[in-house]
Amino acid sequence: MGIFEGKKGLVFGIANDRSIAYYITQELAKEGAEMGFTHLPDKDPERPKAERKLRKLVEPLGAKLIMPCDVTNDENVDKVFAAAKEEMGELDFVVHSIAYAPIDDLKGNVYDVSRDGFKLSMEISCYSLITLANRARKILKPGGSLLTLTYLGGEKVIPGYNVMGICKAALESAVEYLAHELGPEEIRVNALSAGPIKTLSSSAVKDFDKMLKLYETFAPLRRPSPPEEVGKMGMILLSDYSSGVTGENVHVDCGYHIMGAPPESVHASE
Ligand SMILES: NC(=O)c1ccc[n+]([C@@H]2O[C@H](COP(=O)([O-])OP(=O)(O)OC[C@H]3O[C@@H](n4cnc5c(N)ncnc54)[C@H](O)[C@@H]3O)[C@@H](O)[C@H]2O)c1
Repeated sequence: MGIFEGKKGLVFGIANDRSIAYYITQELAKEGAEMGFTHLPDKDPERPKAERKLRKLVEPLGAKLIMPCDVTNDENVDKVFAAAKEEMGELDFVVHSIAYAPIDDLKGNVYDVSRDGFKLSMEISCYSLITLANRARKILKPGGSLLTLTYLGGEKVIPGYNVMGICKAALESAVEYLAHELGPEEIRVNALSAGPIKTLSSSAVKDFDKMLKLYETFAPLRRPSPPEEVGKMGMILLSDYSSGVTGENVHVDCGYHIMGAPPESVHASE
């Protein structure tokens, strides 16, 4: 019997089969979880591309709910939680795997970021966790778990990550404040800091391939973390195996984040 047998949750953020949320979903499904999913609203109802892509991935896993949701739209978010309550009842977990910055703001220097671009990036990449947490706390059971995805660029300067680094720093702080506030309600809130993984979102980050290559020389395990490892840790952070863990930022990056200087092997090869 899987450790998520009889457990239910919502997953926000599957765009395609490379999405980190999809890797977490697959691990949860293997363990018997029942899940509802959201996709970005399709602009053309005749050609519902986002919905179709999501359906293809999650219907074989027995999806209980598939709905459009743009996190900048309160009505969308309310509808998802109302439908989840109606169709699934109380929940055990919520996955928030969402980020966005307008491409010009992401590619440019931080000092050049536009006011509107900054607001939108923060709203989608950070405030959305807060607004989901506010709805989730009303239908999560005691022992419930909320998980978001972050990146080292929120803690340290990663050239090219730019405005998204600022969003991730705010997101990581939000995780701590939410963990503090929701702890007495027996709800845990954690972040998983994944190393670089090729996805739709990361393709917008400048020099992403170079960053990936660095892991082969700098990371203690001398490799980047494949998305399957992120999926497994995501599942663990949503499970009872992590029942004493909250407000945490767990790195799944083969140890890259602990390094303050290159390993000796780099100097030896110079
Ligand atoms: N790929 C990486 O290297 C990496 C590393 C660390 C953390 N992350 C984080 O993981 C999370 C998931 O990203 P991913 O790499 O799987 O890419 P992805 O593009 O597959 O996922 C991003 C998701 O955000 C959703 N989204 C964007 N704007 C939205 C809005 N207004 N309303 C609702 N949903 C919206 C997209 O539809 C998509 O499903 C992000 O928070 C990202 O910053 C990614």
